[in-house]
Amino acid sequence: MPLESKDILGLEYMKTGDIATILKTAESFKQILERDIKKVPTLRGKSIVTLFYEPSTRTRNSFELAGKYMSADVINFSKATSSVNKGETLKDTAKTIEMMGVGTVIIRHPVAGAPNMLAKHLDTPVINAGDGAHEHPTQGLLDLFTIKQKKGNIRGLKVAIIGDILHSRVARSNIWGLKKMGAEVVTAGPKTLLPPFLEELGVKVYTRVEDALDNADVVNILRIQLERQKKALFPSLREYAIIFGINSEKLKYAKEDVLILHPGPLNRGIEISSEVADSERSSIKEQVANGVAIRMALLYLLMGGGKTGGQVD
Ligand code: CP
Repeated sequence: MPLESKDILGLEYMKTGDIATILKTAESFKQILERDIKKVPTLRGKSIVTLFYEPSTRTRNSFELAGKYMSADVINFSKATSSVNKGETLKDTAKTIEMMGVGTVIIRHPVAGAPNMLAKHLDTPVINAGDGAHEHPTQGLLDLFTIKQKKGNIRGLKVAIIGDILHSRVARSNIWGLKKMGAEVVTAGPKTLLPPFLEELGVKVYTRVEDALDNADVVNILRIQLERQKKALFPSLREYAIIFGINSEKLKYAKEDVLILHPGPLNRGIEISSEVADSERSSIKEQVANGVAIRMALLYLLMGGGKTGGQVD
């Protein structure tokens, strides 16, 4: 079934039916990724470009691998060696690349709304790979997929999102996606890192981590984003780790079989202890693997596979 939208800009704008279609399609791609030979001809003759204006390890490489596993040609645009350094605007850069015939533009940008602006000007599908503190929809989708794979469903689960919500595009995409799929979402963190709009989104807000963790099915632990903090928002990292860092002791408040998620990269010993990150309850490594399956599903659905009802492989 094709998606309703030409672009993937955020889970706020995404229809619940589209989320369900993407999660279902990713199941087929996950099976392909479990094979020895992962290459399929699905996107042969098509191309994608990754246009990253901010650093990335997981998102960029998993989009590149997703494209390559599906036989697409992949261009990785490098801001440092491009004509952006001669003053070319984002819109002109993207239009120039579109004229070369690319099938999908994947963009990460520090400015919230940059992918939305591009989507208005391009006929080519645009995927938001993270825009400022706004949204990171492919991370939100891979988190939903991981929860569904591990717990069997999403509806009715209690999901606690802990940490730096203020600067987190992952938190926003998770909240929109989880609420649409029927989960209960609670948050906790220092008051200075909890934006005022959370309650308007139907999210319960706590300042004591133990209250948010109480009986939780899933805990999504966020990275402290020091690079986005313009002034000190808590006394020290040591104090943050003691009060808000998730360790085995604090996890006693959650359900016995609680699922631990973290979008990465990890600040070990600050927002998460190594003991928790590497425990059997942690699916952090699986999130990374599921990110490839989700991104394969998105490229397939946006680049014709979903519209023609074509075979995944
Ligand atoms: N989770 C995430 O977006 O990681 P990267 O910044 O490494 O892509």
